[in-house]
Amino acid sequence: MSSTHPQRITGEPAGPAAPPSRFALPGIVRFYDCLTEASSFLDDVLRGLSAPQKVLPPKHFYDAQGSQLFEEICELPEYYPTRTEMAIMREHLPEIVQMLGPDMELIELGSGASVKTRLLIEQGRPALYVPIEIADSALRGASAKLAERFPWLHICAVRADFSRPLRMPSFTGVPVKLKVVYFPGSTIGNFTPEDAVALLHNVRGLAGTGGRLLIGVDLKKDRRTLESAYDDAAGVTARFNLNLLARINRELGGDFQLKRFRHKAFYDERLGRVEMHLESVYSQFVHVAGQRFDFKPGETIHTENSCKYTVPEFQALARRAGFEPQQVWTDARNLFSVHLMIAV
Ligand code: AVJ
Repeated sequence: MSSTHPQRITGEPAGPAAPPSRFALPGIVRFYDCLTEASSFLDDVLRGLSAPQKVLPPKHFYDAQGSQLFEEICELPEYYPTRTEMAIMREHLPEIVQMLGPDMELIELGSGASVKTRLLIEQGRPALYVPIEIADSALRGASAKLAERFPWLHICAVRADFSRPLRMPSFTGVPVKLKVVYFPGSTIGNFTPEDAVALLHNVRGLAGTGGRLLIGVDLKKDRRTLESAYDDAAGVTARFNLNLLARINRELGGDFQLKRFRHKAFYDERLGRVEMHLESVYSQFVHVAGQRFDFKPGETIHTENSCKYTVPEFQALARRAGFEPQQVWTDARNLFSVHLMIAV
């Protein structure tokens, strides 16, 4: 196929040429809002607080304050994943980039502040960069920064909830050789293994046969390291967790009193995951959007799972979703892994 002609990258049957405004242009970020009603914060909160084990999905942590707090977590001495993954990427980038080849469409899930992505863009020089992120502030901030730093880069930023089946807009005007889905940060750990397989199956659809998945996965390790990573001495993770209640108060007319809840984090070795909860210190009730929810003393809201895998465990999981492991890189202390996989 001639690379001088724009080609359709995804979806939609070929029709008349799209108007120029729909073409991705370097230096100009195109935004696509693909957030559907189905992932409404209010519905998730009302449903979650009505369940026998109260639960809130972790994707709602990331409003502007939550995204900021997560950035602070990444700097904590106890929180090893971010800096370890970064070190693995730095060390092996030449090899990674060589294995990916030129003219890729780089699709990033949960792009956040996109620090590791900067390296990948710099060295890999993708033809098109497609960050997919639910957090509006993080998506806009990071895209604008990347556009400024890489004026040659085509960016199509998609606001979407990738925990649900994705219908992607069709990007025109940029020829690509290979689709690479980059899923850093061990965000996959937020899903139970069953849900992770379903999600990776969707990712496989995004990448297409022969496409690649580059994914960061936190490894199983001793309890002490894990529990202090999720319950740091400075209390930043506690503030991050409690911000979810503050967000409910701000956005949904909630009346949570944050002082009446306590951050809890523990490693469940049998399930291979760190769980975060918010524990009610007293018998109390709260209101959200006019509905009342009761708490017994010691009752918790389960706010996050962070699943950990061994390398072979994760490879087996990815195979169930239609990926074949190509290469895996880890650090010397075996804290974290970065997998390159091919969609078969
Ligand atoms: C962004 C989901 C990878 O599970 O380690 C950090 C979120 N929660 N500290 C993780 C998180 C508490 C983080 N992920």
